[in-house]
Amino acid sequence: MRILAFGPNGSGKGTQGTIIRDRYGLDHIESGEIFRHHIKAGTELGMKAKTYIDAGNLVPDELTIPMVAEALAKSNERGWILDGFPRSKAQAEALQETLREMKIDVDYIFEIELDREEAKKRIMGRRICSINNNHPNHIAFETIHPVEKDGELVCRVCGGSLSMREDDQDQDAINQRHDIYYDEDKGTMAAVIYYRENCDARNIRVDGDRGISDIAENILSEIEEGEAIKLRLKFG
Ligand code: AP5
Repeated sequence: MRILAFGPNGSGKGTQGTIIRDRYGLDHIESGEIFRHHIKAGTELGMKAKTYIDAGNLVPDELTIPMVAEALAKSNERGWILDGFPRSKAQAEALQETLREMKIDVDYIFEIELDREEAKKRIMGRRICSINNNHPNHIAFETIHPVEKDGELVCRVCGGSLSMREDDQDQDAINQRHDIYYDEDKGTMAAVIYYRENCDARNIRVDGDRGISDIAENILSEIEEGEAIKLRLKFG
């Protein structure tokens, strides 16, 4: 199963991607996370990418596209969720070309719709667990609020220490990330439109202004329905 995840920065793509990954045993390929790994490791790619990420800009295609193509080539046979790529029409076209060469298709595209002010609030209040960065923690939402231990906020799931992403506290950089997302000519919405018009994958559009489990239930039930249709077409 191959899935593309879309949604404005902070809308919950990563959160939902993790739930879907665990349900189907897929790889969760997150372009932003691969960059952060390179930055932490001090690689040349990481050093080049950091300047763009700090300013909220896209890392140039000549660095990003080969990096994602490599991750796809290494992914497991069950399939993947690609989160954070493509982020422009040019990346969407490059991805289609890569998938054509690999002789694989995208099965599902999910798109989380969320107002940008709400998405900004989610970015700024996000806290990252040092033990597992997929543990949801947010200082503004009661259901996923970190817990207090020895006078400090720690991960509500495992008690790990929490940190903030550098690019999450700069409002100008966040606005720039959202300007790129909502740009229907060249930005990420252009990639979304490209996929709506050029791909046979089932398109799942969900209202992101709900709780995490409601959204997950919505996406998972659409995938189940899609899988049932595929089985009926295969076996009659
Ligand atoms: P990236 O790491 O992809 O960051 P982002 O797109 O800005 O946003 P996220 O993916 O972190 O947000 P999300 O939608 O996953 O939300 P989350 O689930 O964490 O990219 C970083 C940078 O790398 C980019 O700016 C760019 O520079 C570069 N880059 C990456 N890909 C690139 C590409 N293809 N080309 C060029 N450059 C690229 O949720 C957010 C918070 O809300 C969390 O705290 C979560 O717990 C909480 N939350 C989630 N869902 C809910 C809910 N329903 N209700 C309440 N809280 C919720």
